[in-house]
Order: sequence, then structure tokens, then C-alpha cells
Amino acid sequence: MGSKKVRTLSIFLLVVIMMLGGGILSRAGNVYIVGTSADYPPFEWVDGNGNYVGFDMDVMRSIAILEGFKIDIKDIGFDALIPALQSGKIDIIAADMTITAERAKVVTFSDPYWASNFGVLVRKGSGLNIVTALSQGHKVGAQTGTTQADFLDNLKKSGINVQMKLYETNDLAIMDLLAGRIDTFLGDLPVANAFAKAHPDKLVEAGVIHTGGNAGFAVKKGDPKGILPLIKDGVSKLHSTGIWDNLVKAYFTGNLDKITACYAKYKHFLDSGEPAKYAAGLASCMTEK
Ligand code: ARG
Repeated sequence: MGSKKVRTLSIFLLVVIMMLGGGILSRAGNVYIVGTSADYPPFEWVDGNGNYVGFDMDVMRSIAILEGFKIDIKDIGFDALIPALQSGKIDIIAADMTITAERAKVVTFSDPYWASNFGVLVRKGSGLNIVTALSQGHKVGAQTGTTQADFLDNLKKSGINVQMKLYETNDLAIMDLLAGRIDTFLGDLPVANAFAKAHPDKLVEAGVIHTGGNAGFAVKKGDPKGILPLIKDGVSKLHSTGIWDNLVKAYFTGNLDKITACYAKYKHFLDSGEPAKYAAGLASCMTEK
């Protein structure tokens, strides 16, 4: 009798230990799917070797290393990101997504990480300024489902004579701007800057619209998988280790043309789990003369 009880108890304990162990192990091996719209340098785009690069991508990779999980990046249309999060196809949105009250009803956002001001891009020599670029019947391109699209919608509703052309990806809008099929491109400021720098003799910034908004990372409403605390802790580690500053330096002050070579050169530090060395290497490589 007595020994049977002991045996039952020890089997019970064994099961508990296995469950706990399994829980810990499975947490360490968790793979979270990061959804993005990889058409938005310097936040996320595809380099010459087909790698997802950009500030958001490297912030996520670095957090994953520091917090002990794995990520898999999926490039889907910006307007499909929230539905994909809701249906569980992705776990995290990292897409320079601006925190809005409307979105916050259906997803849960991290703390804000970047200001969401708009840059207004026009062709050099067009003579358009920030006011005329967005009025007088001019054609303005923006990405479907974005705060820029909402902004243009509101301009129209308030009676301003502006035509809006929406694109699945921002690359297509820039192609149309270069070709003269639209007059103006509206995007987040660092993105407008990046596109202007990529076509210095063709494009120029007409001005900045200060929106007061900020971007955040998003997870499924209510964060059922407990991902937000990992992001929060990860971001604070990025700040305290200098990784954040180096990624900012690389992507917001560096020469984005260098990304293919620089990512190839320093990527091995991500593979070996050393994000600080990666970020320091990338920052110096991207800003080297
Ligand atoms: N910040 C804007 C928004 O949230 C545009 C973001 C577009 N992001 C992208 N990866 N294409 O609506």
C-alpha cells in the first residue's frame, strides 16, 4: 500500500517535472512569425542577396537573440498585416506601423519606438512645394491601408482638390513618381528621405508634415502568447547595450546602398548570437566613407 502511494507520488512528480521542463524548453525554442511589408527602407526592405534588412528587422533579430526565441520573417502586403495577426498567421507586426486608436482596438501595441512624421516627395524641377504638392488636383501616391492613405482621404473630405493613388507596395509608387504618372509621394519621413537619396538627381523632398504619431510593434489583441514583455525587456536591453544606437546609426545616418555588402560582412555575428558585435560592425560599415 505504502510503496504504491510513494510510486504514484513519484510518477506524479516526474510528470510535473517533465511538464515544467517541457514548458521551459519550448519557450526557449519558440518561433514567432514576424510579419512585415518589406518595401520601406530604412525600416524594412530586401537587400541584393534577398535578405530582409532594415531597422525593424534587426531590432527583432536582436531581441530574439537576447530573449531566447527564434523568428521567421514573412513579407506580406501592409494592409494584410493586421488580418494575418488576427488569424494567427503571424505573431508580431514589425512594419513601422503607426499606433492609432483605430488599430489599437484590434491589436495590442508595444511602447512607441519611432516618430511617424510624413515626408512629401516630388520630382526635382517640378516646382511643387508642400502645399501645392498636396492640392491643385495633383496626383498623390501612398500605400494602401496606411496612415498616409487616411490622411489623403481626410484632405479630400475636407474639400481639398487632391487625387489619391494607392499602391500595394511603396516601390511601385516611387516608380510611378519617377515616371511622372503621379506628382507626389507621401510616406513616413525616413522612408521619403531614403527614396530621395536613392534618386538624388530625380527626387526631392518638398517638406515634412508633423503628425505627432509614433510607430510601435503589434501583437494579437490581448497578447495571448505573452510576447510583449519579451519585446519590452528586449528593447530595454538594446538600449543599455548600445545596440539600439548602433542600429539607428547604421540605418538612419548610414548609406543604405552599402547594406548588401555590410549585412553579408557582419551577419555571422547574428548567427553566433552576438547582436552587439553585429550592430557595431553594421554601424561602422554603413557610415564609413
Ligand atoms: N507608418 C505608416 C502606417 O502605419 C506606414 C507604414 C508602412 N509600412 C511598411 N512597412 N510599408 O500606416
